[in-house]
Amino acid sequence: MDDTVQITYAGKTYHFPILEGTCGEKAFDISKLRSETGLITFDPGFLSTGSCKSEITFLDGEKGILLYRGVPIEQLAEHSNFLEVSYLLIHGHLPNKGELEQFNFHITHHSMVHESIKNLYDGFPKNPHPMAVCSTIVGSLATFYQEHQVNVRDEREIEISIHRLLAKLPTIAAYSFKKSIGQPLPYPKNSLNYTENFLHMMFSNPCEEYELDPITARALDVLLMLHADHEQNCSTSTVRLVGSSMCNLFASVSAGIYALWGPLHGGANQAVIEMLQHIYDDGGQVEKFVGMAKTPDSKFRLMGFGHRVYKNFDPRSRIIKDLAYKVFERSHVNEPLLEIALKLEEIALKDEYFIEHKLYPNVDFYSGLIYKALGIPVNMFPVMFAIGRLPGWIAQWKELQADEEFRIGRPRQVYMGRGKTDYIPLDERSE
Ligand code: ACO
Repeated sequence: MDDTVQITYAGKTYHFPILEGTCGEKAFDISKLRSETGLITFDPGFLSTGSCKSEITFLDGEKGILLYRGVPIEQLAEHSNFLEVSYLLIHGHLPNKGELEQFNFHITHHSMVHESIKNLYDGFPKNPHPMAVCSTIVGSLATFYQEHQVNVRDEREIEISIHRLLAKLPTIAAYSFKKSIGQPLPYPKNSLNYTENFLHMMFSNPCEEYELDPITARALDVLLMLHADHEQNCSTSTVRLVGSSMCNLFASVSAGIYALWGPLHGGANQAVIEMLQHIYDDGGQVEKFVGMAKTPDSKFRLMGFGHRVYKNFDPRSRIIKDLAYKVFERSHVNEPLLEIALKLEEIALKDEYFIEHKLYPNVDFYSGLIYKALGIPVNMFPVMFAIGRLPGWIAQWKELQADEEFRIGRPRQVYMGRGKTDYIPLDERSE
């Protein structure tokens, strides 16, 4: 039988069914493994573990393929826009004209936040990291929209929460920046599209006219599309795991923002710029840092290199590299860090260690340089990632809630601590 996997253990043979995805990925279903054999699997970091069936995103790390609901990322980056991609991910199909207009309308008309939310920004200490602020404020939306906490499976409630969250995150994010520089918090403008509106809230002030640059807005829109979903990564798995307790969308996404923050995930774009700056300040000796990255004892990694699933190239990084050139050419920015980045990429890609370990620039390697050229402060880079990833988190959370095989997420463990040990009263314990 080749449609099952056989496991022989303690003299008995067990059969487990094979599951085949639409693009050829094969898995064997171990959901009955423990009940039939008494065994569990052990897979730290989930290198070989599928946590769900999903119809949202397909990626082939060997071939460098990324599809959102079947549509290649390259086509979306060229022809689509962020809100259309959001619709595609969340609803499962490209919208027709009427559907897109309606979706745009809803998102545009939910972008203001409750005035009381503004008070929350005053409660943070000076210079809080905007990821912490955004996660907190997103979580706090659950206190403003209590009805959604009660019924997380109500389709209409879900739809309204999705509109609210997608519409408000750019406002929440822009306010975290405005607050940090002591400027007034502008209201969103309904005449602008999603990305333009974000730029307006980030960079306008009441004293001057703010001129929106359509090319900047488009570059940002493309970046957001490239980040929109990436199947079961760390933050998305977090959103699903939190959502699996039937927790509301706002709380689940708030947790996802925190998971994204780390430098091994969405915080890498900030870490890349800090690393490039460090190399530059050190005299630009790129070879020295490549050498350090190859020395395990140094604990130094080239940020923006390597990926758990892409082992040949990251299709998003190709699009981003072209975009970076366009942005730099247009804005005539003399960015010394771009030169460092190019040199680093060139040296690393020819280096035996990087070739052998299949380490290539990932999506974060160039995105930070573009954000920097667009005038976005470095600590806001992970927030940009969060805005981009939001439709993916929403789509995955929604898919989870509708899944017929829905169960609360609860991994097992292999306990390695002490066996049963008697309690010793405090005064009998040795020093
Ligand atoms: N620089 C130097 N060596 C590296 C790097 C790097 N950036 N990444 C991995 N390696 C090496 C490891 O030391 C290890 O070497 P060894 O086998 O000789 O011990 C080997 O490559 C495998 O690395 P792992 O950490 O086991 O790979 P994993 O799949 O667990 O991690 C990760 C992937 C976290 C992305 C890793 O490559 C990394 O830390 N990169 C830098 C941070 C980064 O850019 N993160 C953004 C990822 S993309 C995203 O989240 C959007």
